[in-house]
Amino acid sequence: MLIAKKTLCIDWRSVIYRLFKVLHLSISSHVVSILGYRESAHEGRPMLDESLTDEYIKRTPRSKKLFEKASKYSPGGVSHNIRYFRPYPFFVKKGKGSKLVDVDDNIYTDYWMVHMAAILGHAHPEVVKAISRQIPLGFHYGTANEVSIDLAEIICKNLPSAEMLRFCNSGLEATSYAVRLARGYTGKKVIVKMIGGWHGGNELQVAVTPPFEKPESKGILEEQSKFIVPAPFNDINGTASVIREHSGEIAGIIAEPMLGAGGCVPAEMEYLKYLKEVADENDALLIFDEVITGFRVSLNSAQGYYHVNPNLTTLGKVIGGGLPIGALAGENEAMKFADHTHGTGKGEYVWIGGGTFSMNPMSMTAGLATLRYLVQNPKVYECIGRMGETARNRIDKEFADRGIPTKSIGIGSLFATHFLREEGLNVKNATDKSNNTLKEKQFEYHFRLLLQGIFFLPEHEGAISAVHDGKDIDKLVEASGMIAEEMHE
Ligand SMILES: Cc1ncc(COP(=O)(O)O)c(C=O)c1O
Repeated sequence: MLIAKKTLCIDWRSVIYRLFKVLHLSISSHVVSILGYRESAHEGRPMLDESLTDEYIKRTPRSKKLFEKASKYSPGGVSHNIRYFRPYPFFVKKGKGSKLVDVDDNIYTDYWMVHMAAILGHAHPEVVKAISRQIPLGFHYGTANEVSIDLAEIICKNLPSAEMLRFCNSGLEATSYAVRLARGYTGKKVIVKMIGGWHGGNELQVAVTPPFEKPESKGILEEQSKFIVPAPFNDINGTASVIREHSGEIAGIIAEPMLGAGGCVPAEMEYLKYLKEVADENDALLIFDEVITGFRVSLNSAQGYYHVNPNLTTLGKVIGGGLPIGALAGENEAMKFADHTHGTGKGEYVWIGGGTFSMNPMSMTAGLATLRYLVQNPKVYECIGRMGETARNRIDKEFADRGIPTKSIGIGSLFATHFLREEGLNVKNATDKSNNTLKEKQFEYHFRLLLQGIFFLPEHEGAISAVHDGKDIDKLVEASGMIAEEMHE
């Protein structure tokens, strides 16, 4: 068992890093990877204990080499910032069922599950069978295909508020089109979004991570973000005051029914009902971003779980069965504004289009096989939901027994364990998460799990799939108990 040294020891890697900076020496990605230190992302945080990082480096030599090579060709060695974690991510060569195998032959039970998309696990036989039939028929035709109608039909039959939809290639595209449709339909400009809400790297990338008032990226225009107005999630009074301030200007309110990247924080029922009422009162469209929760928390998605129907819904992840997809679904009235066939001229309908690879038969087929499986086996939701509940309760108990206050939250199969600064603190929105929880402890927990062959993308939520079982959860709980012991020392 790895023994933790206390984190108060001198952080020599940060000292060397700063020395390089002071001397104006260029810091190559190689140095960064060896130091396991990255200033912008980790400024002011205690480093992981060296013995943990060393153990990881010892077990993953090929991944280390690949990361160094990847860093030559991609900034930061990745194409999605969240996939980087220090000292470097492991590189995967195979995913099957609930397991990932890395290039050094380490096996991990996966709880990240393709950004939570893989509800049936990796390479599920039904999905493999379906796409294998499609492969010899061609990957994409760039024109209409029948399987896309079948997928649209199964989505609209199960998603309570959906009458029509348009497919695109990612959740980001879906939320971008939702914003445009809301503005086109209402003739107004302001979109209210939740603090901590992540909708992809588009103009909605405002107030996602703390400090929330600071721009999320260089290159985001102030002129554009001034129309994206952040409101506090699960806070009716706070949201009401934001809405009052922009009365008459609001085109749409976009909210995840469970803040995903913002901490796996479920909405309170009353809050969603309030959003629905206030959107109606303001002649604005309510948009649920169900890219994570769609067909994940139930067959009727989060809107079915909460019994609150939005005007528009954005989807992605699960509906693609592991292949790239996005969709914007909604009521006929709003969706018909995107119908370009009704003789209206340029500028008279809302242009929302899915791009070259929209509706490609590979994604459509994988998505259809997945949703059909879920429709035919609705017990999957009960089963993964129960495992989620068990994991939340038992992990918290393991830590509480060692005097470490944690709060595991989520809905059904989705969950995140937060390390509280003090017993009894709340995590009901992203500001609470920022103020009341210890991110570095969560990182340490996830990193220690990794060393026990259990993969949570550090500092992110976990997802249970149909191929996880009770034994996996027992192992996760046992590992959490051992880690609690180590972290308590
Ligand atoms: C709630 C939510 N919306 C939108 C997106 C963007 O989806 P994509 O990564 O497919 O572009 C994500 C991605 O994680 C998400 O969690």
